[in-house]
Amino acid sequence: MCGIVGYAGHRPAIPVVVEELHRLEYRGYDSAGVACVQQGAFRVVRAQGKLSALEQLLSEQAPSTATTGMGHTRWATHGAPAVRNAHPHLSNDASLALVHNGIIENYLEIKKDLAARGYVFHSETDTEVLVNLIQECHRTEPDLRKAFARALSMAHGAYAVCLMSKDEPDAFYAARMSAPLILGVGTGENFVASDIPAFLPYTRKVVFLEDGEMVRVTSSSFAISRVQDLSPVDYRVETIEWDVQAAQKGGYRHFMLKEIFEQPKVLSDGMAGRLLEDAKGVRLPELDGLPVPSRLSIVACGTSAHAGMWGRHIIEALAEIPIQVEIASEYRYKEKLLFQPDEMVLVISQSGETADTLAALRRAKECGAKVLGLCNVVGSSIAREADCVLYTQAGPEISVASTKAMCSQMLVLTLMALYWGERKQIVSEATRAACIETLLSLPQILEKELPSMHAQAKVLARKYAQARNFFYLGRGHCYALALEGALKLKELSYIHAEGYAAGEMKHGPIALIDSAFPTFAICLADELLPKVKSNMVEVQARQGKVIAVTTPGVDLPADDLWIVPDVPSFMSGFIVLPVLQLFSYEMADYLGKDVDQPRNLAKSVTVE
Ligand code: AGP
Repeated sequence: MCGIVGYAGHRPAIPVVVEELHRLEYRGYDSAGVACVQQGAFRVVRAQGKLSALEQLLSEQAPSTATTGMGHTRWATHGAPAVRNAHPHLSNDASLALVHNGIIENYLEIKKDLAARGYVFHSETDTEVLVNLIQECHRTEPDLRKAFARALSMAHGAYAVCLMSKDEPDAFYAARMSAPLILGVGTGENFVASDIPAFLPYTRKVVFLEDGEMVRVTSSSFAISRVQDLSPVDYRVETIEWDVQAAQKGGYRHFMLKEIFEQPKVLSDGMAGRLLEDAKGVRLPELDGLPVPSRLSIVACGTSAHAGMWGRHIIEALAEIPIQVEIASEYRYKEKLLFQPDEMVLVISQSGETADTLAALRRAKECGAKVLGLCNVVGSSIAREADCVLYTQAGPEISVASTKAMCSQMLVLTLMALYWGERKQIVSEATRAACIETLLSLPQILEKELPSMHAQAKVLARKYAQARNFFYLGRGHCYALALEGALKLKELSYIHAEGYAAGEMKHGPIALIDSAFPTFAICLADELLPKVKSNMVEVQARQGKVIAVTTPGVDLPADDLWIVPDVPSFMSGFIVLPVLQLFSYEMADYLGKDVDQPRNLAKSVTVE
């Protein structure tokens, strides 16, 4: 996710704006830029890479005396990380400058219409389209506030924007829809930013803008109105008690907890622009030019491999594409990689830099396979080297333990299953509608359930904190979730945990069970429930304690029941995943572990 900042005050604006951007760096970015108005014209400075590159460019120029300005750190969604795509973007007539966080879903249609009117574009971004749409609206509406509002009403999707006009050098406009934007109220100076840490050293007084609101800001005033009809908005000035570091975590104790709670938004963002009108189907234009794979090898590491194992079930069920899931470190050294016509490889990687996964991609390409990438980081090595890449749009994942990334990967895998199933014409209208309806309901379900899940995790983590070993059991797609639950527990709390196919217990592992070896069983109300239930009885017969994740009304012989909402079929995985994440989070936090930076681990394993 990008970071945007605006400043109007009594100090030279650019140094303040750059300082604000530094305090948003934790959000991750690949380029940055600033803008102000000097002698009636815009000064825009943009640089790829870290803020230091931008600061170097600024140091080579005469300092600006402007006391109003804005800035941006870009986390690429549309268009590669490059200076031409960095914000701020100027309108064609250089009268307007815009910075933007979010995704304008209908930007291609708007771009086509503007191009027909003679507008030219220098980037691949949706942001440059929006600033020129504002110019076009301003051409017939002299009041910039009205023109801005009209343009925003034509843009569909998520945005937090900051706009400046060379004709109003001491003011900036800002607006938000489904992306955060906060007003900082100072003394003789005012701020706007994507997140509170940006301006916290200057003021603790904030106004949280709501969706559909816009604001015009000067050093001594701000006026909030509704985009829809420009009616004034009542607002409340609140005081922030956090320090900067706490603010960067949005008030959560750790980035991991913040990212677990971001999963409803990750699901919404992941679906943005990928569902046809009236949810009539899935659109994945990245795959349109490719045949439907005759067979698919999914290759990844760690949590991404578990996402692939989970996705296998839904793709085989809906698209009837045979799938094999491979661990990248094994796959890359296989004696032979044999591919039949139209067989493909899908590599999954949040960072897009995992050495084993990148090596597996290169080996598969050398052997003649078409390789698809599923990544979170735009422009990462895997994203660049794959023949075709799909992005999870989950925003930067700061905590070493991967949480929201897996949720976003599972979502895109579900969309791929529906997309390929539709292309093969084997997904019925009813199945497709039911799947999409369930997907669309997930953000709201999770938003509602996460707090109670977190409370239950606190209780059970403390109850089982003495355990030195844990089994995680599941069948079908829940086997992949069991593996993920075990990985989370061991990498965060350093407790030994084994994820197992529940049916495998009697083939040896059950010898380990005793009263000090608890089991976390995933027992959803599906056709495999009776089987998992009998596995639980086997565990309890040997004095093993059982925590069972299940849905309302299921009678289970567990020591602790963890009830979650009943969501159809594979989609229940999106509900079980945060349960497993929160249990591990609370266990690690209770045991005093370094939750965001567990020992021996790196966020991206860029070496073998
Ligand atoms: C997950 O919690 C771990 N940090 C680790 O297993 C991670 O999923 C793995 O290294 C793969 O990373 P990637 O998705 O960036 O390729």
